Amino acid sequence: MTDTGLPMTVPAQGLPDRVRIHEVGARDGLQNEKSVVPTEVKAEFVRRLAEAGLSTIEATSFVHPKWVPQLADAEQLFPMLGEIADVGDVALPVLVPNERGLDRALALGARRIAVFGSATETFAARNLNRTVDGSLAMFEPVVARAKDAGVHVRGYLSMCFGDPWEGAVPVPQVVRVAKALMDLGCDELSLGDTIGVATPGHVRELLSGLNDAGVATGTVGVHFHDTYGQALSNTLAALQHGVTTVDASAGGLGGCPYAKSATGNLATEDLVWMLDGLGVHTGVDLGVLTATSVWMAEQLGRPSPSRTVRALSHKE
Ligand code: HMG
Ligand code: MG
Repeated sequence: MTDTGLPMTVPAQGLPDRVRIHEVGARDGLQNEKSVVPTEVKAEFVRRLAEAGLSTIEATSFVHPKWVPQLADAEQLFPMLGEIADVGDVALPVLVPNERGLDRALALGARRIAVFGSATETFAARNLNRTVDGSLAMFEPVVARAKDAGVHVRGYLSMCFGDPWEGAVPVPQVVRVAKALMDLGCDELSLGDTIGVATPGHVRELLSGLNDAGVATGTVGVHFHDTYGQALSNTLAALQHGVTTVDASAGGLGGCPYAKSATGNLATEDLVWMLDGLGVHTGVDLGVLTATSVWMAEQLGRPSPSRTVRALSHKE
């Protein structure tokens, strides 16, 4: 480490010049928090993330409030973020499971939405109260109407590597649902390792399987949870395969209320440390981002699980 709190930059072969970080701290990071975070704190969190240079900040979810009580304030929060969306080019995607959610998001002027499917039946039932194909049927009019309205659509796919109830998930099973999501008209796909069990060879195999099925790597993002400490290795494997969109959560916040073994996402600071060291451009200021996560940890009353946040915030 240097005196500036930044890694020495030593580029490596076969990596993209630039990575777009899809920041999920305000949504995936907070959705599992037991005590309700005040709406003003969430708005301030998003504002600080934008100041740190993040250009895609997932803001909240328009899901049933009883299913995710922490995000029940989406109607209050989203309008508070208007100024942020106007500053620079910050995109504020929101999760939408069905037409009711789409109506709510469109009424507030959302320009980017994400539907979220599952590669396994058990998680589809627990998270969406549907079968896998039933959830695809639920998304069909959502994607069609969003596209008609000129809204960008991300298709999340959960349990792409392993499922706490069903075990390892075969690649062809994942590819089928991923392809179906893209065939609905999603602009991009995000491969969710919801419980953090993936390893780099498995990541490569899934990306190749998607390519073989006609899903181009340029439309694919990766979404790793860090349960087994594999998120960064998996990300590097994905970047080497040509992926340029990586989901991460400031401070490593996160989890999924409907998959108890899920821990936090890959910490954005850990990702930026690696990418800064590799000379891969992200547009993110690591110091400002770390200060944001330290501030958020104070709001939540416990230290950030991110190794990089801990290292940089304890540095004299
Ligand atoms: P359901 O109970 O089957 O809903 O839940 P329904 O369609 O039968 O409707 C029941 C009632 O809910 C109706 O009201 C609807 O209007 C209302 P009533 O007519 O009885 O008065 N309703 C809604 N209200 C507000 N907003 C809505 C909405 N939808 C229905 N959008 C549902 C189905 C999909 C709604 C429910 O299962 C749900 O909200 N699930 C969300 C779960 C969730 O948010 N999980 C976390 C996000 S996924 C994740 O974290 C993974 C990810 O990070 C990637 C990874 O890591 O793998 C993305
Ligand atoms: Mg997640």
